[in-house]
Parts: sequence; C-alpha cells; structure tokens
Amino acid sequence: MRRGSIFALLGIGLIAGGVAAAVALVPTWLPVAASREAGRIDFVFWFVIAICIVIFALVAAVMIYAVIKFRVQEDDWEDGPPVHGHTGLEITWTAIPFVLVTAIAIVSGIVLSRNDAQAQDTLRINVTAQQFAWTFNYPDANNAASPVLRLPEGRSVELYMRSLDVIHAFFVPQFRTNEDIVPGLVTNVHITPTRVGTFPLICNELCGLGHSTMRTQAIVMPAHAFDAWLRQQGKTAASAPSSSSSSAAAGLTAFNSNGCSSCHTLAAAHASGKIGPDLGKLVSYAQQAHQPLAAFVHTSIVDPSAYVQPGYQDGIMPKTFATLPKAQLTALVSFLVQSAQQSGK
Ligand code: CUA
Repeated sequence: MRRGSIFALLGIGLIAGGVAAAVALVPTWLPVAASREAGRIDFVFWFVIAICIVIFALVAAVMIYAVIKFRVQEDDWEDGPPVHGHTGLEITWTAIPFVLVTAIAIVSGIVLSRNDAQAQDTLRINVTAQQFAWTFNYPDANNAASPVLRLPEGRSVELYMRSLDVIHAFFVPQFRTNEDIVPGLVTNVHITPTRVGTFPLICNELCGLGHSTMRTQAIVMPAHAFDAWLRQQGKTAASAPSSSSSSAAAGLTAFNSNGCSSCHTLAAAHASGKIGPDLGKLVSYAQQAHQPLAAFVHTSIVDPSAYVQPGYQDGIMPKTFATLPKAQLTALVSFLVQSAQQSGK
C-alpha cells in the first residue's frame, strides 16, 4: 500500500472518529447520576461507546476510501477481478470482535455484581405497584406507608417489589435503575443514593390506560433528616388506630396510599385524575344506579364492574381493592360518602 493511501485512510478515520466523539460527548445525553450504582453503569456505557467510536471510525475510513479510490471510470464495463477472500483478514475481523464482546461481558458482569452487593446496614423498603400507583412501606418504621420513595443519602437500600395486578417497571433515570415488577414474583433493586434531591420515579412498562400517570418521586434526604422522618413515621404508624377507625383522616390516607388520585378527581383529596369517574359527583351517580350512596360506593370499590357510569369504560379500575383491609375499606367508603354529601352533587 502506498504511503499516500495510508495517510488518506488515517485522515478519514480521524475525522469520522472526531465527529462521532463530538456527537457522543458534546450534548448532555444522560441525566445527573444520583447513586453509586449509576457511576458504574455510566462507566459501562462510556466503555461501550468508546469501542463503538473506534469501530465506526475504522469502518467509515475503509468505506469512504474505497468508494472514492475504486470508483469505476465512465467507460469501464469490465467485471472486477475475482476475489477469493483473505484468511488473515478473516481471522482478524473475527478475533477483534470476539475480544471486544468478551471484554464488555466481563466489565458488565463485574459492574452488575458490585451494584447488587448490599452493605451491612442495608435499609429494606417494600414496594407495591398496582394500576396506577406506587406504595412504599418501611419495615423499620412499623411498616409505615408512603406514596413517595424517601431514601437516605449514602446508605445502601434494597427494594423488594411486588405487583398486585399486571407487570409494571421501576425506573429512576438518575439512579440508572430499571427493574420489572411481575405479579407472583418479588424482584429487587439495590440503590446507594449519593445526591440529595428529588427525582422522577416512573413506571416503565405499559400497564394500562393510566400507565402514563403512574409516576411519583424518589426523594433523597440527608441521612439524619431521613432518620428523623423515619422515626416520626414509625410513631404515627404505631399510634394510628388500626381497626374500626372511620375518621376522615384515615379515609384520606387510604385514598392516597391506594393510588385513587391518579385516576379520580376529588377536591377533598386535591386529586384531579381524569381516567375514572369524578368522585365529586357520587351522589348523582348513586341516583343513576338506583342505589343508596354508601352501598353504591362500597360496591363500586370492591366490584367495579357491578355498575359502570356511562361515559367511562369497564375493566379500567383494578379489581384488587376487594382485598383491602376491612378497616381501610370502611374508612375509605365513609370518607367518600362524606365528601360527596358535602359537595352535594
Ligand atoms: Cu405501571 Cu405502567
């Protein structure tokens, strides 16, 4: 090969590699990294990107060079010379990808196993996903429930995730975590938050009509603030009357922790969901269904198909609320009845 050709190939390769590197590095493609695991995932990401840029530069150089250099002349109608392959070249282009793919597999394996490694004092949080809401329970605090995921900065946290109905997925871009939540299984996610802040927590699996509304927040707090919050939650959960309470507060808590607000509108709960019927109009719905208000509300929760308000679709409201603890259900029904009577519609 002539020296000029080598310089041409090198030049094209450098330009192609430079353009690809600029595309990779100049825009900020990734959101901030807010967990120790995110740093490792990003390392794998950039490791693979670097390999891709080198290969792209190589292929682009050879391709562009060949297109220009071996372009047929206007009057050239001959067949090209027969080519019988090149053993050395074939071994090379098999061996190099083999080495690269193996390297990526090894690096990924190391990163995944280190990301899953829990520390001694790992905090356990139970996650429940259902159409279309999240609930986070803290076993360390009398199983206190929260509709947002609160985490302590710098501490290892393991999520044990269950679904009550269909497949959902837990996704927090800033933690670089995504894990399916499958009915009948407990799936896990390990996070060590490194940055105080509020991040979106998104359901990342199409799970029904309200899928796009199935989002909440992951709030990373300084460790001492989190401990104080957790202690407070533990006290509240312990002192909360566990049975026969039908106070409005208990009803409101049940409304929020079961995700009702993602689908329904209810002024008393500052909810503005549009997927299901407007709960400010329960009085008129009950009249249309020819049922007493309280019985109507109860039935509509435990058996949503019994009566479907015209204008709304059957089969959207989950049937899982039939299994709500009796105290919660009673509190929820009387809360809804009360706020419906107040609104008078
Ligand atoms: Cu749950 Cu999408």
